[in-house]
Amino acid sequence: MSNPTSVWDATDYATNGRFVADHGSTIMAMLDARPGELILDVGCGDGALTALIAASGAAVHGIDASPELVAAAVERGVAAQVVAAEDFQGEGQYDAVFSNAALHWMLDPRPVATMMAESLKPGGRLVAEFGGFGNIAAIRTALSAVMHRHGYSDADPSQYYPTPEQYAGVLDTVGFSEVEARLVPRQTLLPGTMTDWLRTFRRGFLDAHDVPVDQQEIIMAETQELLVPALFDHVGDRWYADYVRLRVTARH
Ligand SMILES: C[S@@+](CC[C@H](N)C(=O)[O-])C[C@H]1O[C@@H](n2cnc3c(N)ncnc32)[C@H](O)[C@@H]1O
Repeated sequence: MSNPTSVWDATDYATNGRFVADHGSTIMAMLDARPGELILDVGCGDGALTALIAASGAAVHGIDASPELVAAAVERGVAAQVVAAEDFQGEGQYDAVFSNAALHWMLDPRPVATMMAESLKPGGRLVAEFGGFGNIAAIRTALSAVMHRHGYSDADPSQYYPTPEQYAGVLDTVGFSEVEARLVPRQTLLPGTMTDWLRTFRRGFLDAHDVPVDQQEIIMAETQELLVPALFDHVGDRWYADYVRLRVTARH
């Protein structure tokens, strides 16, 4: 079942989430897509990176659980399909599986890893980056403290942020080899305020905990206030998020 906290608005994502794809240049280079290849983009979102892969001359197929973001991807000319990664059935036809900033939304990694393995040709490659152990620790701590203050004491953050060893273990189990996984801490400049980030990336979390819309705004403002010492740059008047990415390559 898809993560109920994964809820997206395409316009909002284009404004406040574009930096996610903009930071994809390293794994795009690691993917090194070639003309004639067939590539699966897992959690393609609104298709910004999927379109770049297609521009390399490879054929690319995006899958994503969000109808809103898949509609935006299709609008930009990307071949994308609404389907949860756990439910997709690949049949060994892909040269590579690619994923940016998506695998941490899939709470049970085993069925997703199995799907990625089954989708690849023998010798095919996996190139992925997503939230790793320690990701947005300050933001999660602040949001959880404010949720607690408002009576949502058992609020579950609903993300999967594994260590390299944990994720390598998952990939080993489903038959991947040559697994390389490492954490990349990346303090990330945000295009707007922390409240803008929370509205884009944690609206589904607040909705899933039945927080009324007016109270959501209060919770986001209080969370932003708590994070000023950790993540606001007074000199530059700008906000950062304390991202830690897990960068993974493997062969099947
Ligand atoms: C932060 S966005 C990243 C989108 C895109 N890859 C990018 O780089 O901009 C995370 C994406 O994961 C998708 N997602 C979350 N859970 C999913 C699942 N179970 N199956 C497929 N996609 C999922 C969301 O719908 C969302 O589009």
